[in-house]
Amino acid sequence: MIPSLNLIAVPVLLSLLLHPSDETCPSMCLCTSDTLSCSSSGLTKIPKLLPSFSITLDVSHNQISWLGPASFSKMWGLENLWISHNQISDLASGAFQNASSLRYLDLSSNKLQKVEQHYFEGLWRLEELLLFNNKITQVESNALLGLSSLKKAYFSLNLITHFPFFSIQDRSHPFLSMLDLSSNRMTNLLWQDVKALPGLVQRGLYLHNNSFICDCSMYSMFWHWALREYDTLKDFADEHTCNINGDPRASIRFLRHSRFFNNCTVDRAVSLPVTVRFSRVLVWEGQSVQLDCQTSLSSTNLSFMWLSPSQGYITQSKIDSTLMSLFANGTLEIQAAKVNDSGLYVCTAVDIKEALNATREINVTVLLPEAESFNTGYTTLLGCVVTMVLILIYLYLTPCRCSCCKQPAPPVMPIAAYEPENSIFLPCAQDGQKSNSNKHVAFMQPMLNEQGPEWTHES
Ligand SMILES: *[C@@H]1O[C@H](CO)[C@@H](O)[C@H](O)[C@H]1NC(C)=O
Ligand SMILES: *[C@@H]1O[C@H](CO)[C@@H](O)[C@H](O)[C@H]1NC(C)=O
Ligand SMILES: *[C@@H]1O[C@H](CO)[C@@H](O)[C@H](O)[C@H]1NC(C)=O
Ligand SMILES: *[C@@H]1O[C@H](CO)[C@@H](O)[C@H](O)[C@H]1NC(C)=O
Ligand SMILES: *[C@@H]1O[C@H](CO)[C@@H](O)[C@H](O)[C@H]1NC(C)=O
Ligand SMILES: *[C@@H]1O[C@H](CO)[C@@H](O)[C@H](O)[C@H]1NC(C)=O
Ligand SMILES: *[C@@H]1O[C@H](CO)[C@@H](O)[C@H](O)[C@H]1NC(C)=O
Repeated sequence: MIPSLNLIAVPVLLSLLLHPSDETCPSMCLCTSDTLSCSSSGLTKIPKLLPSFSITLDVSHNQISWLGPASFSKMWGLENLWISHNQISDLASGAFQNASSLRYLDLSSNKLQKVEQHYFEGLWRLEELLLFNNKITQVESNALLGLSSLKKAYFSLNLITHFPFFSIQDRSHPFLSMLDLSSNRMTNLLWQDVKALPGLVQRGLYLHNNSFICDCSMYSMFWHWALREYDTLKDFADEHTCNINGDPRASIRFLRHSRFFNNCTVDRAVSLPVTVRFSRVLVWEGQSVQLDCQTSLSSTNLSFMWLSPSQGYITQSKIDSTLMSLFANGTLEIQAAKVNDSGLYVCTAVDIKEALNATREINVTVLLPEAESFNTGYTTLLGCVVTMVLILIYLYLTPCRCSCCKQPAPPVMPIAAYEPENSIFLPCAQDGQKSNSNKHVAFMQPMLNEQGPEWTHES
């Protein structure tokens, strides 16, 4: 009786454990260990019963038009959610309730028109938010509040005219390093707000292909970013355009053609810190080396100052001309580098007219010439060979062999260098009497100090 009951109960229990009844894989989806793929399966809404253990859910390329409240509440482990290429135009309040494990949310290529305050409530672990290629015209001021783990946010290819820059601060978004607002409809931003963004955000702020109106405050902002060589500007230099008087037909690439802004006085308040370019130079001792001071400043009327590890501050007027020279173009030349010239050289280029300065750091390492290091090795080798030969001669050809061979063989050790000054005469005769034989063996100085007296005493 009992065994037959078990026969029935075990498989049932097992199947319940492995596939709890409400967590089966929906027929239109592909379920693997922790990934659930329901892309391109004609879904019009998120399936109600999805396996709770999934970490990744892909419902992209469907016909979903909105996300209802607590759409993912059973999926407590969900970290990656792909809902791109749907028809979503709105998110219900609490759409992501109980989905606070989310780290990656892709809502790109949908029909969102507004990013409302409640959309991303509770997603404090979210690191990447993809909202590009929607129809967004407005981002509500607190929409990103609470996304304190956010690292990257993509808003490009929308219709945004204003963005709540003031809501992004060091303390609210300490990890945000990429904010993509390119290809939107921004005309004139509140540059004071943009300037107040944390440095990390400014460095990763993409604003190209908007509809900025050419003016001095806009140009001043980008001018400073260009000076600091932000990648966002370098990578899209040609896409940074502005419209003269707001007329889209009079569009100029302002990073390429700055003539229009010649009359602007750029605001110095944000002019620092300026780029530090860092490089490394290796030089052999005795050789001359030129350290150039090419910085982001391009004016022809710059003055230069170097800080060197061995000489301190070096300027045109204060220079020890026998050792180093400083050219008008800022290049510092060391005529014959010495090992203790190694270290960090910092050049500061100062544009007095524009009240700007920029620095360049060069880490100089002076190496001993190769020939010399070869010689050292060669000398060592030769010393060893000579020593071995001398020891052999000493052991087998010494005239006063009888007295010496009673001693245990001295702890012979090949030496590092054969240097006559360091060599000693080994006592050969008894009672510390020195033999007048000319044979000698070189030992390293420390060994002499340790062993010398002992032998003298014993022999
Ligand atoms: C969702 O979270 C609420 C509290 O925010 C809790 O009361 C509820 O039980 C949770 N639901 C699930 C399915 O975990
Ligand atoms: C610039 O933005 C428009 C839409 O505003 C978009 O169609 C176009 O592809 C963008 N161009 C580039 C080079 O990103
Ligand atoms: C710059 O100033 C000069 C002289 O004041 C003026 O002739 C010129 O039109 C101005 N350029 C622009 C682009 O405003
Ligand atoms: C600066 O001038 C010196 C001497 O005229 C020249 O040797 C050096 O190559 C120049 N440096 C740069 C970066 O042009
Ligand atoms: C650098 O080394 C030389 C000898 O090689 C020595 O005369 C000189 O005083 C040293 N300079 C410094 C700053 O240590
Ligand atoms: C560079 O600029 C900063 C800030 O204005 C200033 O404190 C510093 O003294 C300047 N350095 C030089 C060498 O002019
Ligand atoms: C300069 O280079 C040396 C040798 O590679 C390295 O030990 C040192 O840390 C470097 N100094 C700086 C400031 O990077």
